[in-house]
Amino acid sequence: MKKKVLITGSSRGIGLAIAKKLLEDGHQVIITGRNYEKLSKTAIEINASGYIAGDLLEEGFSQELYSSAVGILGNIDVLVNNAGLYKWSKIEEVPLENIEQILKVNLQFPYELCRLVVPEMKKQRWGRIVNMGSISGAVGEANASLYSATKAGLIGLSKSLALELAEFGITVNVINPGWVKTDLAETSLTTEQLNEQLEMVPQRRWINPDEIAELVKYLISDSAYGITGQSLNLCCGLSLG
Ligand SMILES: NC(=O)c1ccc[n+]([C@@H]2O[C@H](COP(=O)([O-])OP(=O)(O)OC[C@H]3O[C@@H](n4cnc5c(N)ncnc54)[C@H](OP(=O)(O)O)[C@@H]3O)[C@@H](O)[C@H]2O)c1
Repeated sequence: MKKKVLITGSSRGIGLAIAKKLLEDGHQVIITGRNYEKLSKTAIEINASGYIAGDLLEEGFSQELYSSAVGILGNIDVLVNNAGLYKWSKIEEVPLENIEQILKVNLQFPYELCRLVVPEMKKQRWGRIVNMGSISGAVGEANASLYSATKAGLIGLSKSLALELAEFGITVNVINPGWVKTDLAETSLTTEQLNEQLEMVPQRRWINPDEIAELVKYLISDSAYGITGQSLNLCCGLSLG
């Protein structure tokens, strides 16, 4: 059965790869991002079912995004909370304003969207929520404590919601990627720092965004109904230490 999907942070990077994969699979997909012009061009290129531009930091945007998405699709069967902000910095050097921003984008906004999509999913007794965590949330990352805390929060949120919603045919999972060479990685670390990070990855390679998209495609399928409340590491062995 083809589904109606909302993916946050899908103008580029991992979110865009997920959008392309699910569109190829015949699902209806709405993409989101901040830059209206870029987003509208991307939506045309990939033949998205719709696009909604806006900043997750704006007051009230979760309700606006949800209402606009429902306006386009009628309802939402699948929510992928993918948008995320990363800050690589020693704790004492993190600017105070970053704390609120990263908590909002990485944890509060996903929570707010879950809160909005759940009632309809419960009514139709079918739903899929996939949260994009990080291996940093699963095992910790030095110099990324704020980011890791939010991603660990998504693990707690996913497990708890999975328990709460199991009887309604709704699954909730979190994917924890290791390093993926997107803008997020390339603008946060220098080439030298990225190479150092790669040295710590057992498979000595970057994850391709398409690998994450494949996992999302599986998790939203009926075949994956039994997988809920799971924190899935897709990290080329990085979690093994
Ligand atoms: N890359 C990695 O190595 C890695 C590893 C583990 C986990 N992850 C997680 O995977 C997810 C996607 O990461 P990525 O690497 O694809 O990141 P990315 O290339 O930086 O893309 C981030 C996406 O989120 C959107 N976004 C960010 N802040 C936003 C805001 N305030 N309002 C609206 N949209 C916003 C961006 O939209 P705009 O185009 O408008 O900026 C963009 O679509 C994130 O949750 C990240 O934490 C990434």
